Amino acid sequence: NRPLKVALLGCGTVGSAVLRALQEQADDLGARVGRAVEVAGVAVRRPAHHPDVPADLLTTDAHGLVTRDDVDLVVEVIGGIEPARSLMLAAFEAGKSVVSANKALLAEDGVALHAAAAKAGVDLYYEAAVAGAIPILRPLRESLVGDQLSRIVGIVNGTTNYILSRMAETGAGFGEALAEATELGYAEADPTADVDGFDAAAKAAILASLAFHTPVSAADVHREGISTVTATDVARAAEIGCTVKLLAICERVANGSPTHPGDSVAVRVHPAMIPTTHPLASVGGAFNAVFVEAEAAGQLMFYGQGAGGEPTASAVLGDLVAVARNRLAGAAGQGPSGYADLAVRPMAET
Ligand code: HSE
Repeated sequence: NRPLKVALLGCGTVGSAVLRALQEQADDLGARVGRAVEVAGVAVRRPAHHPDVPADLLTTDAHGLVTRDDVDLVVEVIGGIEPARSLMLAAFEAGKSVVSANKALLAEDGVALHAAAAKAGVDLYYEAAVAGAIPILRPLRESLVGDQLSRIVGIVNGTTNYILSRMAETGAGFGEALAEATELGYAEADPTADVDGFDAAAKAAILASLAFHTPVSAADVHREGISTVTATDVARAAEIGCTVKLLAICERVANGSPTHPGDSVAVRVHPAMIPTTHPLASVGGAFNAVFVEAEAAGQLMFYGQGAGGEPTASAVLGDLVAVARNRLAGAAGQGPSGYADLAVRPMAET
């Protein structure tokens, strides 16, 4: 039995943690899959920037790597829309399952990507795209798929949670807390995607799509960031027993109008006051948490590290083992319509 071969696209913080695990834990991963798993190649833009990667694995020809006959599975950790989208579509066309951490791409084009994977009879898994290490997408796609979800409320951006937590702890203003987050490496040099809620909106769109079986894109999400939250807002919230969090809220809404019967889904990201007694209030620092309400299961909370190379690599490797097992079993894991069967519609269409 020949080993399963993995093409790794991208070798930044997450990619290098994935590569390290594939090399150092090869025996364990092979045992979990039931077949040896090997790295076929690592596609990067500038090979000279990756002296730690064996030179015979490095290539700048990502498309060539993805479509190589001996490659079975593709891990995409490049991020952004292109060339990630074209490479993913090329992988599906060549009959290869894809594991991705790409929230922006899935939030923009999830429907087309799922359709392409389903047409090719292969898998598309992307646990790492939302809330890093926290298993939340596969619980929504698998464990909770027999239940009716009513609401998801998430803290899905670690940078803003760190900033708001520091404002509450120290009385600092937004600018001061952001400067501290930048200095400690929580916030990126350009913090816009985090601070203005774009990152959380992409994650909310993915959560809503999977929870409510309807295509929601980032553009459908009402979005408001945290830059206008003041030290006074945070202090007043504390006076009335509340804490300020940037929440991603996905809700089933029963509207049932004559022209649009049935339910729809409303998705929004904005700062909100929550009572300090709510489980989400205790999520401090750069941690993430996702609070799920389902009809039969009731309330569930998923909590953990939402970013960082190794935590995010944990989610990627979990997906990789799952798609490798599916490949050996000869079937894609999610069936033909694991994604958007249009049980409910996004609010914007009603
Ligand atoms: N910038 C993101 C955050 C990283 O702060 O949560 C993980 O997507």
